[in-house]
Amino acid sequence: MCGIIGMVGEKYRLEALIDGLKKLEYRGYDSAGVAYVENGSLVLRKVRGRINQLIESMGEELKKNIRVGIAHTRWATHGEPNEINAHPQTDCTGKLAVVHNGIIENYRELREELLSRGHVFVSETDTEVISHLVEENFEEDLLEAVRAAVRSLDGAYAIAVSHAERPEELVVARKGSPLVVGKGQGLGLLASDITPMLSYTRDVIFLSDGEIARIRGSNIEIYDLEGNRVEKKALHVDWDETDAKKSGYKHFMLKEIMEEPEAVRRSLTNRITSNRRVVFEELELVAPAIASARKVMVVACGTSYHAGLVFKYFLERFSDLDVEVDVASEFRYRDIHVDKNTLVIAISQSGETADTLQGVRLAKRKGGTVIAVCNVVGSTLTRESDATILMMAGPEIGVAATKTYVSQLVVLYLLAMYMTAKKSVWREEFDEILYQLAHIPEVFEGLLSRSEEICKLAKKYQNYHHFMYIGRGLGVPTAMEGALKLKEISYINATAYQAGELKHGPIALLDEKFPVFAIAPRDRLFQKMKSNIMESVARGAPIISLGTEGDRELLEVSHDTLWVPKIDENLYPLVMAPVIQLFAYHVSDLRGLDPDKPRNLAKSVTVE
Ligand code: G6P
Repeated sequence: MCGIIGMVGEKYRLEALIDGLKKLEYRGYDSAGVAYVENGSLVLRKVRGRINQLIESMGEELKKNIRVGIAHTRWATHGEPNEINAHPQTDCTGKLAVVHNGIIENYRELREELLSRGHVFVSETDTEVISHLVEENFEEDLLEAVRAAVRSLDGAYAIAVSHAERPEELVVARKGSPLVVGKGQGLGLLASDITPMLSYTRDVIFLSDGEIARIRGSNIEIYDLEGNRVEKKALHVDWDETDAKKSGYKHFMLKEIMEEPEAVRRSLTNRITSNRRVVFEELELVAPAIASARKVMVVACGTSYHAGLVFKYFLERFSDLDVEVDVASEFRYRDIHVDKNTLVIAISQSGETADTLQGVRLAKRKGGTVIAVCNVVGSTLTRESDATILMMAGPEIGVAATKTYVSQLVVLYLLAMYMTAKKSVWREEFDEILYQLAHIPEVFEGLLSRSEEICKLAKKYQNYHHFMYIGRGLGVPTAMEGALKLKEISYINATAYQAGELKHGPIALLDEKFPVFAIAPRDRLFQKMKSNIMESVARGAPIISLGTEGDRELLEVSHDTLWVPKIDENLYPLVMAPVIQLFAYHVSDLRGLDPDKPRNLAKSVTVE
């Protein structure tokens, strides 16, 4: 969601800035723009649509050497996606440019005030009020002008400001939306996340809320809103630039699914002892809170929410803890009952999802202890939680979460076992589960080698308009995640139900044009699942079942089957994940869509 990049310092090619912007494409956007300074004037280029259109429209211009520039991908909130509303937004003088991620809540009032003082607005965006506010406050010092301007803003922002009269510097500010700064050789950099920085540096500084920075080449000064200097240490990121490249794969999504064995391996590293126990050194400080917890609440969105559901089923099965899981956008507005005996698990790949962050803040205000499960070191969630477990999945570029989902599951299984042991005893069943978990990377390798087989099935089913995913128990989150993956990248109407609920309504939808995707491993609920499959068969629905290798009973009631190897029944959500992901991927690709950039979606949802 909205990507910001800026570079300032010794001369560099304008196309380097646009290359950086391309690395933020995955966040999701519908227009793009750039501003740079040339001979004391601001040059502005914007397009509706893709960065490639911007590149085409700029042609040879991209070869220019510049000293300062900012660029942006916009995911429309205020005003439709068009050239005028695209960022950068300028002021009345046309010398100042602002790029912004976030939402200014009091922009209407500010706009009225600014209009009454004679400012002329050209766009419908909330961002434009920032440009005019900085303009009003600018005399000599751009940093001071930005500081004065942001003090009037309510809402969330990450902004970067450039002024034609100050070609040696960029000023950035952050509240509520992510912003990272770093130094390249003779170059100062800023971006919404670290992916475009990796070509220049692995040492980055994540700005905190209320911080403003002035970047002059490799000199970065950070201040608080009162103007006091803030000293911050850079954080070393051990992600590789090649991690964020397609490396010969047709899509990032496919590459990232294929990376799952490695992602899982990293999530497990150093977390299982030689005598088969779970260790989380990062949880030492919150160990007393875990031991005294009376209630567990999970807060997350999208795929992370589905990982939270698996955690619930698993932890409740082995401990006497009740686990409540809610999507963050509901959790944060509910009358939740959190106190010092409540443990809140916040799951977020990016660590920047606005709703999840608000849920965490609410829980903390009420006295709860928050453990984050996150993939991005230094992200806002990791800084605001009491403890963080890093998933170690490596960067994920495809909008639809894949390898981070399996990493989340691994970490959450481990966490549930760790918590159960801290609360009462080490359950004997955990020995076997841990043993099998440690071998999951090899199991995944076997599963991923069946991609062609899954593609064949995808060919057969690619033209259906609807899909019903069903499951029971631990199969429910798999059904929900399967339906989410399919709908978000193939735009097929895929819906998920607890299989037992079919007969209370959704079964009315089923006929020969409405396939059922049944999650039916050989677990304690298999026979119940089988009955639900039979009910669907009786309504003429084509059945694809995902079950345990060689299950003849399942074969008999299904039109098509996909298999995973036999495993401890608690781990089926994990081994089934690559299969549902590959199915969705192939359907999307066969339908000629781009699974990496689904329409209307964003990778990092930094607004409410
Ligand atoms: C967006 C993404 C999803 C993701 C969700 C939660 O909607 O498109 O793939 O699951 O955000 O993101 P998080 O970073 O908090 O896990």
